[in-house]
Amino acid sequence: MSTQPTQIRFARPAQGVPDNDTWAVTHEPVPDPQDGEITIKVRYLSIDPAIKGWITDKKSYIEAVKPGEVMRGFGVAEVIASRSDYFKVGDFCTGFTGIQTHATMDSRQLRKIDPNLAPLSRFMGGLGMPGFTAYFGLLDIGNPQPGETVVVSSAAGAVGHVVAQIAKLKGCRVVGIAGGPEKCAYLRDDLKLDAVIDYREGSLLEALSEAAPKGVDVYFDGVGGETLDAVLMIANRHARIIACGAVSTYAQMDAPQGLKNYTLVITQSLMIKGFTMRDYMHRIKEAFVDLLTWEHEGKIVFREHILEGIECYPDAVKMIFAGKNNGKLMIKLGD
Ligand SMILES: NC(=O)c1ccc[n+]([C@@H]2O[C@H](COP(=O)([O-])OP(=O)(O)OC[C@H]3O[C@@H](n4cnc5c(N)ncnc54)[C@H](OP(=O)(O)O)[C@@H]3O)[C@@H](O)[C@H]2O)c1
Repeated sequence: MSTQPTQIRFARPAQGVPDNDTWAVTHEPVPDPQDGEITIKVRYLSIDPAIKGWITDKKSYIEAVKPGEVMRGFGVAEVIASRSDYFKVGDFCTGFTGIQTHATMDSRQLRKIDPNLAPLSRFMGGLGMPGFTAYFGLLDIGNPQPGETVVVSSAAGAVGHVVAQIAKLKGCRVVGIAGGPEKCAYLRDDLKLDAVIDYREGSLLEALSEAAPKGVDVYFDGVGGETLDAVLMIANRHARIIACGAVSTYAQMDAPQGLKNYTLVITQSLMIKGFTMRDYMHRIKEAFVDLLTWEHEGKIVFREHILEGIECYPDAVKMIFAGKNNGKLMIKLGD
């Protein structure tokens, strides 16, 4: 495990899923903070499917990372030097720290967190961006009502397993879609979902029709592509479709595919609404308090998949696109 400052830089564009050649490792010293800046030591780094979009130069919600730059990434970090009135040494923070062990940054780019409220890893997962994404996407856009059927894809992942549990809390019939028997067993046996579908086995449409005999009222979509097309086929009139992600299409961003069943959006009066967390940054306290309370009350669990050492970043990225993560994938950095 690295003890000197280490940065993972974006080296060159990737065809398909990023691989080892996409990244370069450097060991540059960390500058002292100037007025308003803090120096941080990163404790956890988040691995997100969005990584592929962040290194692809096309219209998006955020500018693409340029070759040679430190790779973008969320982190949880400890303040080790400060020239900010807001942060003192020993405080903890989260935000876009970059994929690096240390950094000196404008303190306004980071959000203070209280490590007494939860383990640090939680701020990367259920009490961080994935949890907030699940909360606002499902409740604000999906507006699920008791007795309605909610379908969730990437259901065993960082966002999906939180969505599934909130939907259960709201009294819905919840159908989870995930890849492989282990993930499906987790959703069925541990999270007690009403039905589970392994999308790698058999016909997805047949499985969906069986799992959602009354049709689908809310679909939380992390996958896009064929899965979204299949759910459209059984969506009820006025169903709400939360367009959170399209991970099945990220490896082929140069050749995007359209929806085959688009006309059902019209004929079934469906709503498809996209969002990113920047739409909700002003409301994250709401989500944080509810998610923390539900965890304390034993109503929700947050699954974390923790790797160790910044050197494993290239493999961690491959893992998330191969579906080898169980819950929120993150890297713990050494002391
Ligand atoms: N809008 C926002 O603000 C926002 C914020 C966070 C995340 N997201 C999006 O939400 C989705 C889930 O993100 P996450 O962070 O929670 O990741 P995650 O679900 O923990 O991990 C990604 C999962 O995607 C599935 N996957 C990978 N390649 C796939 C493919 N070709 N086809 C179908 N499934 C595939 C795998 O699960 P299986 O083994 O089940 O296939 C993998 O475990 C992503 O689309 C992400 O971009 C959006």
